[in-house]
Amino acid sequence: MASIKRKKKKGRARLSFTDLVSTGPGTLAGRYMRMFWHPVYRAEDLAPGKAKPIRIMSEDFTLYRGTGGTPHVVAFRCAHRGTQLSAGWVEGDCIRCMYHGWLYDSTGQCLEQPAEQESFAKKISIRSYATQEYLGLIFAYLGEGKAPPFPRYLHFEREGGLEVLPVQVWPCNFFQRVDNNGDTFHVPFVHRGAYLSSDIRSGLPAISKEETPWGTTGYAAFPGGWTNVLQFVMPNAYTFRNPAPDKDIPWDDRFQWDVPLDDQHSLQFRLRLVPLTGEAARQYRERRAALLAEERFSIVDAGQAVLTGKLNFEDLEKLTNDKISLIHAQDYVSQAGQGVIADRSQEHLGRSDAGIILFRKIWERELRALAEGRPLKKWALPQTAGPEFVLGTTDKASRT
Ligand code: FES
Ligand SMILES: [Fe+2]
Repeated sequence: MASIKRKKKKGRARLSFTDLVSTGPGTLAGRYMRMFWHPVYRAEDLAPGKAKPIRIMSEDFTLYRGTGGTPHVVAFRCAHRGTQLSAGWVEGDCIRCMYHGWLYDSTGQCLEQPAEQESFAKKISIRSYATQEYLGLIFAYLGEGKAPPFPRYLHFEREGGLEVLPVQVWPCNFFQRVDNNGDTFHVPFVHRGAYLSSDIRSGLPAISKEETPWGTTGYAAFPGGWTNVLQFVMPNAYTFRNPAPDKDIPWDDRFQWDVPLDDQHSLQFRLRLVPLTGEAARQYRERRAALLAEERFSIVDAGQAVLTGKLNFEDLEKLTNDKISLIHAQDYVSQAGQGVIADRSQEHLGRSDAGIILFRKIWERELRALAEGRPLKKWALPQTAGPEFVLGTTDKASRT
């Protein structure tokens, strides 16, 4: 992998490109990322009394949901002879290993060792991790020490039709996805065949981006009248308002997290909140469910078919009626198309890339501070930061 060549200034840590995008245990970016809560699973995909193996930032864990419904994350392996705990049985809020029946509670404390004549269970424990279900996702804090306060996003708690989209695994480093938050000029090109209203496909936008208490705010004023405001929430989430694909809804709000599975794969967690309440929201959910039930479209498979030359980029539009998936498949082609870990030594950034450059500067500044033991910026949550947190506007209601 290429490394960014820097002259080492006195007392300054030397950061390689790998330091900025690798998130395994002990890595610099991994230490930084582990200071935050991350979504690790879609809540509806985990039934009560079931356990799953999960991999986040190159580490394996056991996720299970107690029979009463509470999710828990504990170590991947049993402390006895190391088999995978996710193959075991959930009992209440405990999990029992399938190999010799050791039982652990949700704090990781071993409670039973059925085959031992004199149990030494109280001396045995495995790691457990703070876990929280919220907005249809299961979040975990995978870092050291006490978990920071759980972040709530009040703009997504308001009444509306909340859609928790299926989680996808993309075969590329998470930073490529995060980088794209600053890449506004891709919209009129990558998504030109998508539903996005004529406002947002009307030509090249005027852009600006600034650092905010929660990360960055990017503005993109399209000639058609729509101003897209993208709020990036450190370290790997973004939220924005988009024209909606449905004729009867002017816009919807999005929230997306890009979580490293390992350095070569990232997990996509995506929420949509449509501005409907009560019966209208219920009917909307039914329509969406019916549409998705008849779809056989795989974003990853379709995107991969384009990247391997089996399909043309324009073919994507013919393969799905789900406009949300189409947009994502188009993004897949551009971002997975940069390679598994994009080689930034080969890039040629221009003025239109100012948003990307700003974000990378912030990222590098914080990681350098961590490497050198200096204080890090304490990021606020968007809704506590004041009226400058907005999600987007349009002066014209023109739709296609
Ligand atoms: S390996 Fe888990 S009980 Fe033996
Ligand atoms: Fe996009």
